[in-house]
Amino acid sequence: MRKGHVMTICKRKRKAPTSALITGASRGIGEAFARALPRETHLVLTGRDAASLANVQIELEAQGRSVSLVEADLTEADGRAAVIDAAEAASVDLVIANAGMGSYGSFLERSVEDHLKTVELNLSAVIALTHALLPGMTDRARTSKRPAGLILMGSSAAFVPVPKLAVYAATKAFMLSFSEALAAELGPEPVDVLCVCPGATRTGFGRTAGFSGGDLPGAMDPAEVARKALDALGKRRTLIVEKGPGRVLQPAADLRAAFAGGLKRGLDLSASLQRRNG
Ligand SMILES: NC(=O)c1ccc[n+]([C@@H]2O[C@H](COP(=O)([O-])OP(=O)(O)OC[C@H]3O[C@@H](n4cnc5c(N)ncnc54)[C@H](OP(=O)(O)O)[C@@H]3O)[C@@H](O)[C@H]2O)c1
Repeated sequence: MRKGHVMTICKRKRKAPTSALITGASRGIGEAFARALPRETHLVLTGRDAASLANVQIELEAQGRSVSLVEADLTEADGRAAVIDAAEAASVDLVIANAGMGSYGSFLERSVEDHLKTVELNLSAVIALTHALLPGMTDRARTSKRPAGLILMGSSAAFVPVPKLAVYAATKAFMLSFSEALAAELGPEPVDVLCVCPGATRTGFGRTAGFSGGDLPGAMDPAEVARKALDALGKRRTLIVEKGPGRVLQPAADLRAAFAGGLKRGLDLSASLQRRNG
């Protein structure tokens, strides 16, 4: 392996996105992404809470920014379709699949409906949006010669099983694996894929999940997570954003991404040998 290869998997100079879709933009890390994106980027913001979304829109438009809203529940097919339509209509070249939830408590203590909703939002919605939006994003990026971007929200919980958040942590492990494999598949295409894996971040997430312990010590500001993620897009495939000991996960994340890239090259080689040998 070339020296430094792991760390410079897909370095590409990026211009400001023209138009970005952010799911879960009504608060927390999604709202922070909206604030952190360059002023010239048109924003398509989604969530279920119309009042909170409108507040974000009013504040950003007062700064001269262009913002459109889609009120939608991403656990429902209609909601996903509305978001996909709005993103296509806005010709997005950056998708930030950020909306996510967890249900704190032991597996049997929480209802199966809560668990299935977590899977619907954290996984099914991301797969549906990504599958629908990637072809248009790729075509536009080829024509404009500006790489598109896809940011998928993982978590440091993607790397470790988390009792009392068993389903949530498993969805994040899925998201990490999906993101790494997708990034490897899209290697030659003008689309940068980044899985962002934050540690504890000061948002309403824990409260909504039912965790009553307050913010964990060392919890980060969502603005820091958003800023670091946007900075890492196109430079690496997985970003660990951690203040604490979780930072040691970054080399493991880079190795996993490099492994996926190697596997893809192996599969391509094997397919071309098979073709050549008839
Ligand atoms: N906070 C942390 O410590 C932490 C750490 C690692 C990773 N993460 C990940 O970061 C992402 C953002 O989390 P956060 O901390 O910002 O959480 P948050 O403050 O609870 O925000 C969650 C966002 O998701 C949206 N959402 C929830 N259910 C939805 C649904 N059914 N349909 C559409 N949108 C829905 C919410 O909007 P509405 O309520 O308006 O629908 C909200 O905007 C999640 O993927 C989370 O797993 C968070």
